[in-house]
Amino acid sequence: SPSDPGLVERARAARERLGSRLFVLGHHYQRDEVIQFADVTGDSFKLARDAAARPEAEYIVFCGVHFMAESADILTTDAQAVILPDLAAGCSMADMATAEQVAEAWDVLTEAGVARSTVPVTYMNSSADIKAFTGRHGGTVCTSSNAERALTWAFAQAGEDGKVLFLPDQHLGRNTAVRDLGLSPDDCVVYNPHKPGGGLTADQLRRARMILWRGHCSVHGRFSLDSVEEVRARIPGVNVLVHPECRHEVVAAADHVGSTEHIIRLLDRAPAGSRWAVGTELNLVRRLAARYAPEGKEIVFLDRTVCFCSTMNRIDLPHLVWALESLADGKVVNRIQVDQDTEHFARLALDRMLALP
Ligand code: 13P
Ligand code: SF4
Repeated sequence: SPSDPGLVERARAARERLGSRLFVLGHHYQRDEVIQFADVTGDSFKLARDAAARPEAEYIVFCGVHFMAESADILTTDAQAVILPDLAAGCSMADMATAEQVAEAWDVLTEAGVARSTVPVTYMNSSADIKAFTGRHGGTVCTSSNAERALTWAFAQAGEDGKVLFLPDQHLGRNTAVRDLGLSPDDCVVYNPHKPGGGLTADQLRRARMILWRGHCSVHGRFSLDSVEEVRARIPGVNVLVHPECRHEVVAAADHVGSTEHIIRLLDRAPAGSRWAVGTELNLVRRLAARYAPEGKEIVFLDRTVCFCSTMNRIDLPHLVWALESLADGKVVNRIQVDQDTEHFARLALDRMLALP
């Protein structure tokens, strides 16, 4: 939908008043009306690095979700304020692993005698608490664009017969382990935080190579094998391209799998006349379809019954205008601040990620 011209004007004016004190980050899944005001766009990995590379900006307005703003706060200086224009922009996947549940799971692993040989790897899409847990236990953060490198590193750290505890997205964990590291799906077990002992026996834990947390993305988890079969029948010669947060059977049936940045690069290089069905967030797929239509690339959304990420969409132009105008008036609103102890250990895990070979 076209943005309200009055609000566009107000956002422009507030930006101008703030000048170089302001830096606006926009995740690729954000609405058009918001993304037009981003100084940089990117996936969660790129945005974390971009935030860290701007020490002179007083205010970092993060158009994305809560865990991304937390990571930006961790990676920026104490003098910089990270602002999330709507505090209700969370992430259902991140909410699937709480600090208490993860501490309990570590106790279960300790009881089973496997904690010593287990290295945790936490997807960027998690709270700062979970990243801190990972940092405390010698693990690293990963994103969808470096999950293979992170897992390879973690298995090397864990040593022979070592294991990885992967949080909170079981699909990214399984897809990376099986597709990229050549593990068998049988090497993976799923830890269910809602069941005593995670629903696993000590023997199952001992035999597993990958212990996957039972979390998923409520958007990507909805693409199904039917979506893939239906689009192949409807569009002859279509290339199916999906994000690794999709379920394993969807990823196995797709032609290409990749992080958000990888998806964009592939479509950018695709030849004219090629046809693509893309399984990732709808705001991004729509923008890519519009961008590449003039070059004769046909891009459709993998499953028309799947909708936007509702929490990403909470950041809309009215919230952005409110945040920018408040800052321009000297009022710091919706600041995301991670406490010092959590920040210290989460940063350890994030720095390990940034140092991955
Ligand atoms: P990336 O930005 O790492 O591709 O993650 C996808 C996602 O779901 C972000 O919320
Ligand atoms: Fe979370 Fe999925 Fe939305 Fe990303 S797309 S913010 S993982 S619910």
